[in-house]
Amino acid sequence: MTNEGPLPAPASPGAAEVRVRPALVADVKPIMTLVNELAVQQVMLPRSPASVIENVRDFFVAEVDGQFAGCGALAITWTDIAEVRSLAVAPAMQKHGIGRTIVDALVRDALRLGIPRLFAFTYVPGFFAKMGFTVCQHEDLPHKVFNDCTHCPKFLACDEIAMTRVLDSKASPTRLFGQPQRAIPLPQRTPQFTAPNLPKRG
Ligand SMILES: CC(C)(COP(=O)(O)OP(=O)(O)OC[C@H]1O[C@@H](n2cnc3c(N)ncnc32)[C@H](O)[C@@H]1OP(=O)(O)O)[C@@H](O)C(=O)NCCC(=O)NCCS
Repeated sequence: MTNEGPLPAPASPGAAEVRVRPALVADVKPIMTLVNELAVQQVMLPRSPASVIENVRDFFVAEVDGQFAGCGALAITWTDIAEVRSLAVAPAMQKHGIGRTIVDALVRDALRLGIPRLFAFTYVPGFFAKMGFTVCQHEDLPHKVFNDCTHCPKFLACDEIAMTRVLDSKASPTRLFGQPQRAIPLPQRTPQFTAPNLPKRG
């Protein structure tokens, strides 16, 4: 896929294969194009090029038969909470399960990282309810989550709905990746450092 020009017309999702993978820097342009096209329609917030480039490791990308079809990001806020952010599916591809597949990938990534709780600010509470999120008050979320809000044009007039989902707190990377790792022998303790006897100066 070329990164020039508008998004290509997506293939029909009828029997197409949907694949979600971590984003590459080559995905920055389609991510920005999609998110900012939807932001113009006021259904989500815009992202600057810098914020997508700097945070590209947060993003997952959905492809339908190898063509970019959507994206979503897991932005870690604190050790126990992360935000589902910039979730977007190309309009022609919506309502075919791609949004759910992206959210599932973000949830798996949160579990891999040991993060027990997700939140989102959204205009589509019905979709997030289907993803297991419940509506909460903005004040129920830790103050740290509002750090980024200070950069938002809607700061102090936020009309997005706060939603949160508690993940399986017993999940851990060890469980996710099957058998526990074999015990690795720890190196011998570093012997106490003793200053060498150096000749005195002058
Ligand atoms: C919201 C969005 C990501 C959903 O993606 P999608 O691929 O269309 O959603 P899916 O097909 O995976 O839908 C999963 C379920 O949610 C439901 N759903 C999808 N969009 C919905 C909506 N707007 N309201 C209520 N339910 C919705 C579907 O019917 C489906 O239900 P089912 O499993 O019972 O059949 C997509 O519509 C989109 O990009 N919207 C514009 C941007 C946006 O609002 N992003 C959210 C920013 S927080």
